[in-house]
Amino acid sequence: MKVKVISESPKETQQIARFFTEAIAELGSFSKNQALVVSLEGSLGSGKTEFLKGVAKGLELQEKIFSPTFLIMKSFPLSSKKAGEEQFFKTLWHLDCYRLKEAEGIKDLGFIEIVNNPQNLIFIEWGDKIKKLLPKKHIRIRFETIGKSTRALEIQIP
Ligand SMILES: Nc1ncnc2c1ncn2[C@@H]1O[C@H](COP(=O)(O)OP(=O)(O)OP(=O)(O)O)[C@@H](O)[C@H]1O
Ligand SMILES: [Mg+2]
Repeated sequence: MKVKVISESPKETQQIARFFTEAIAELGSFSKNQALVVSLEGSLGSGKTEFLKGVAKGLELQEKIFSPTFLIMKSFPLSSKKAGEEQFFKTLWHLDCYRLKEAEGIKDLGFIEIVNNPQNLIFIEWGDKIKKLLPKKHIRIRFETIGKSTRALEIQIP
């Protein structure tokens, strides 16, 4: 399934992300023994981090999502929203592979273990750089800069 959405502002990108996150949080992982991986792809400034900020809002995170210079991997615990409501994901991971020199380097940070835990929800900026290490079934979002405040988001769900 492929969905193309046009965003006219950073705020709209965050709203799209909230909508998307609420849907996948209901869905859970594709596999019983693997995390749900969302690969965010597209050039510098195309809105990947902005999208993550909306994801954080959708998951009601208290902590803010940043794009610090040296970030490669950061985790955020997810609390169950309402008592009695089943929560599939226990941890949100934000990875940024921009500065990664080779795909294998991410393994040193425990990437394989993180992927092998179905309670993890993993968003990877520049995920195309570690494509060979991603689970076969993953969600891919391509960001394209159309104009100063217009971005096209193509969401591909297997
Ligand atoms: N419709 C839009 N959606 C998202 N961001 C937008 C939009 N219009 C303008 N912007 C601006 O574009 C920039 C997007 O920056 P962001 O850090 O999200 O990009 P990125 O894809 O994460 O880049 P990088 O590859 O450097 O991490 C922000 O400054 C934001 O204000
Ligand atoms: Mg970014």
